[in-house]
Amino acid sequence: MHLTRKAIQERIKEIDVVIEMLDARLPGSSANPMLAELTRNRPAVKLLNKQDLADPQRTALWLDHYNAQPGVRALGIDASVVAPAKALVTACHALAPNRGGMAKPMRVLICGIPNVGKSTLINTLKGKRAAKTGDEAGVTKLEQRITIAPDFYLYDTPGVLWPRIIVAQSGYNLAASGAIGRNAYEDEEVALELLDYLRQHYADALLARYKIADAGAMTDTDLLDAIGRQRGALQSGGRINLNKAAELVIHDFRSGSLGRITLETPEQFAQWLAAGEVRDAERQVKKDAIEHARLVRLKKIPRPPRAEPESA
Ligand code: G4P
Repeated sequence: MHLTRKAIQERIKEIDVVIEMLDARLPGSSANPMLAELTRNRPAVKLLNKQDLADPQRTALWLDHYNAQPGVRALGIDASVVAPAKALVTACHALAPNRGGMAKPMRVLICGIPNVGKSTLINTLKGKRAAKTGDEAGVTKLEQRITIAPDFYLYDTPGVLWPRIIVAQSGYNLAASGAIGRNAYEDEEVALELLDYLRQHYADALLARYKIADAGAMTDTDLLDAIGRQRGALQSGGRINLNKAAELVIHDFRSGSLGRITLETPEQFAQWLAAGEVRDAERQVKKDAIEHARLVRLKKIPRPPRAEPESA
């Protein structure tokens, strides 16, 4: 994370356009807050990848949201299709019209969280398998320059997550999407959060996939239990294996078997972020107070004077 930050900081000085690759199913949650800080005021392309898996109406909302920002162009793509990848090159030229030709090649930095589809896109842009693809987070390890055309350079950066995710829903959405390594989350917890959201916003998709009619009236745990029963996720004694059921739900979401789903709208994400920032600020105040008390105890800073009792 620290090395990537340094690499971006160094590279950004000679970059014309930053391409931020987002997951169209969770655009807000898949945006790296560190990147916003490092690339401020740079023309940016927000690339909503995996749109084939996302809810098209919500993708349109997100594209409008980003396209309303100055210096930003947003595109929905499916990384394996060639034509939208070409649209990306066009968007870069529109954002940096003075770049192009051998004397002033377009220099583009591409960033994105693990598993967002960066390697797949680079392969598509190159027209052959230029970068490794794989299903584990972080296949791309080192920055590399890829020549898309003689006057178009793409600088690839490692796919990283940021160390502290302050929006709880973002953590769940990132885990559901496959961006977070398997050891860093509980399948059951992620599946329950996913079901809770789907029950409220994609009830038809749940019904179509699992044929459970009264899902709306169930608790999330009962629903997971019913899905486990329906899909045969059983353990000895005929009991439901909730972990297996959770894996099935997450797999169904990732593979698109539940239909085209987006786990957040711009409005929802803005609310989550605002609440997350308030909680984070409160946490910081508490942390500062504990640290202050510790330093006073160690006599590293003077004890604050006691308030004088008021004279009668
Ligand atoms: P990364 O470099 O950002 O880490 O991601 P990578 O390209 O390796 O892609 C991660 C997974 O996402 C791959 O699936 C890839 O095929 C899939 N993917 C990438 N772009 C799209 C897209 O637009 N739509 C869909 N549906 N999937 C996409 P995998 O199963 O892990 O690997 P593979 O078997 O496809 O090679």
